[in-house]
Amino acid sequence: MKALVLKKYSKSAPLIEFCDVAKPKIKPHEMLVQVYAVGLNPIDNMIPSGMFKPVLKFQLPATLGSDLAGVVTEVGSQVKRFKPGDEIFASIFDRGIGSLAEFAVVPENTAALKPANLNFVQAASIPMVGLTSWQALQEVANIQPGQKVFIPAGSGGIGSFAIQLAKHFGANVSTTTSTRNLEWVKGLGADKVIDYTKEDFQRTLQAYDMVLGTTRGDAIEQALGILKPGGKVVSLVGPLDAAFAEKRGLNFLLKFVFGLMSRKVIGLAKQRSVHYSFLFVRPDAVQLMEVGKLLEAERIKPVIDRVFSFDQAKDALAYLAQGRAKGKVVVEII
Ligand SMILES: NC(=O)c1ccc[n+]([C@@H]2O[C@H](COP(=O)([O-])OP(=O)(O)OC[C@H]3O[C@@H](n4cnc5c(N)ncnc54)[C@H](OP(=O)(O)O)[C@@H]3O)[C@@H](O)[C@H]2O)c1
Repeated sequence: MKALVLKKYSKSAPLIEFCDVAKPKIKPHEMLVQVYAVGLNPIDNMIPSGMFKPVLKFQLPATLGSDLAGVVTEVGSQVKRFKPGDEIFASIFDRGIGSLAEFAVVPENTAALKPANLNFVQAASIPMVGLTSWQALQEVANIQPGQKVFIPAGSGGIGSFAIQLAKHFGANVSTTTSTRNLEWVKGLGADKVIDYTKEDFQRTLQAYDMVLGTTRGDAIEQALGILKPGGKVVSLVGPLDAAFAEKRGLNFLLKFVFGLMSRKVIGLAKQRSVHYSFLFVRPDAVQLMEVGKLLEAERIKPVIDRVFSFDQAKDALAYLAQGRAKGKVVVEII
């Protein structure tokens, strides 16, 4: 079968090629899924650089991609919830083998039935942004109606989903975007949209309950200043912290290094009586089912920027890497 395979890590020129690879074999708790569409995420471009080598179990050569929607063709002997012919969506992030292929191995505990009202492209756009937003807003921050949430980069894959989810939880949501996207981002439901090319968010926003850290640079430290006491920054972009190393069972050295990397931001957070944590998304079938229900009820709508064919998958990665996507970039496999 055809797959897009990472063969060699490199910061400047990773070796990524289409290959003819053996159709994967499944274990008792797994399913073989014919992949119809794959949603891309920024980490699909970061993995080839080697920056996640110490953290992810990824053995080269390996198929890239982690979000998918498709049809179950085979189920392992222990699979209870699915049967051949079921249309599913899933995140197989951090499972060592990816989704940018004609077939993928999908553990049962990563998959949910595809919302009936979504096509495969729409469904494939959801898993990572849906799970990340759910884990940040619900699991870590437990957002309650009326709370104030700042979600920078409202036009991105995460922002365009997280704004809708935070509004569903009843939050008052502020976001940032560039001038050309202002009206479009307002349409996602944000209460306040700041043009980051003209205004610094920390001058206007105050007494927030939570910030979702989606942008790099100084933004995370600046975000601490807009929180009320007890407020939380949940960062998706780092710095990684010791708690993350502990949770993943990483070695003492990495725990020490991540502790050093996050020492400044955690210190600043303590001074302000607020909390800093780094979130690393994990596949979760139960949460994906919850997200699926919201999509089926049209409380949340998928936001697709561009769809590429499988042959154009490398162009799709390059397009996403420009960092200007409005919503999600999806590769249609068939
Ligand atoms: N830790 C985790 O588990 C996890 C999970 C998912 C994602 N992430 C990370 O979260 C980040 C966001 O992911 P994503 O999928 O949303 O990325 P994305 O879709 O590539 O984001 C692109 C968007 O970011 C906006 N943007 C860029 N710089 C901005 C700035 N300074 N202020 C406001 N908006 C800005 C762009 O809008 P303009 O064109 O208007 O600038 C564009 O619409 C990435 O770094 C990703 O790696 C982490």
